[in-house]
Amino acid sequence: MIRVENLHKHFGGFHACDGASIEIAEGSITGLIGPNGAGKSTLFNVIAGVLPPTSGRVFMGDEEITGLPPHELFHKGLLRTFQIAHEFSSMTVRENLMMVPGGQSGETLWNTWFKRSLIAQEEAALRKKADEVLEFLTIDHLADEKAGNLSGGQKKLLELGRTMMVDAKIVFLDEVGAGVNRTLLRTIGDAIIRLNEERGYTFCLIEHDMDFIGRLCDPVICMAEGKVLATGKAAEIMQDERVIEAYLGTGLKNRAKAGAAAG
Ligand SMILES: Nc1ncnc2c1ncn2[C@@H]1O[C@H](COP(=O)(O)OP(=O)(O)OP(=O)(O)O)[C@@H](O)[C@H]1O
Ligand SMILES: [Mg+2]
Repeated sequence: MIRVENLHKHFGGFHACDGASIEIAEGSITGLIGPNGAGKSTLFNVIAGVLPPTSGRVFMGDEEITGLPPHELFHKGLLRTFQIAHEFSSMTVRENLMMVPGGQSGETLWNTWFKRSLIAQEEAALRKKADEVLEFLTIDHLADEKAGNLSGGQKKLLELGRTMMVDAKIVFLDEVGAGVNRTLLRTIGDAIIRLNEERGYTFCLIEHDMDFIGRLCDPVICMAEGKVLATGKAAEIMQDERVIEAYLGTGLKNRAKAGAAAG
């Protein structure tokens, strides 16, 4: 479904992505792991049109999508979750969901004046959809809560919920588990599996929690130093010597840096 060919992304002289090639099969939950600074988020950002690549190509099916802006990818069903923007934190959870689909009739002054009934119909439909999404995610009791009052994990669920307000085909999740407690992480994992099985969503997710990766992902791709190091089943990847070495390597480097800084 997604093919990335020989992707390079340089920041000045630094090669964050250094010839990475990956494939994400339709219907899969593909995991992307690797030590800090491996280039995982950079790869996501290039695929999602947030950063232009230095070189390399990205395809969605047969269509080249390299460098397309996020809103065009959004219309093709390629979504990446974003943290809930500051200005939306004073809106309710339900309102945050209702905001997602663009092109509502209520947006223009003309429509505000002349198409009141159409707007009311659309709002009712959006509200219904938002409530279905909240129920699916088991956070319907939070519909009227201000988004800013949610816990970290509940915010992640809301971010996932935003992808359900439109017809997503593939969703990119960067560290959904970061700072989330075990119970909510399980709920998030369950929601991902159900979206994959029941709605045919393809996922690609970056995560440092290996239990989470092991439960959800097949295949798992490991990156290190801007390149793909290994691809395979979670259990194989976690025992792969190159993978272990990459993690240990940065661990040692970080410790050396910390030591140098301290002394
Ligand atoms: N905008 C930028 N300007 C300069 N350097 C950057 C920029 N974005 C990322 N980098 C560098 O590129 C490297 C890869 O960063 P990236 O965020 O892709 O890593 P990552 O694999 O997502 O790591 P982590 O697991 O810590 O999130 C890092 O060394 C980072 O400092
Ligand atoms: Mg990252």
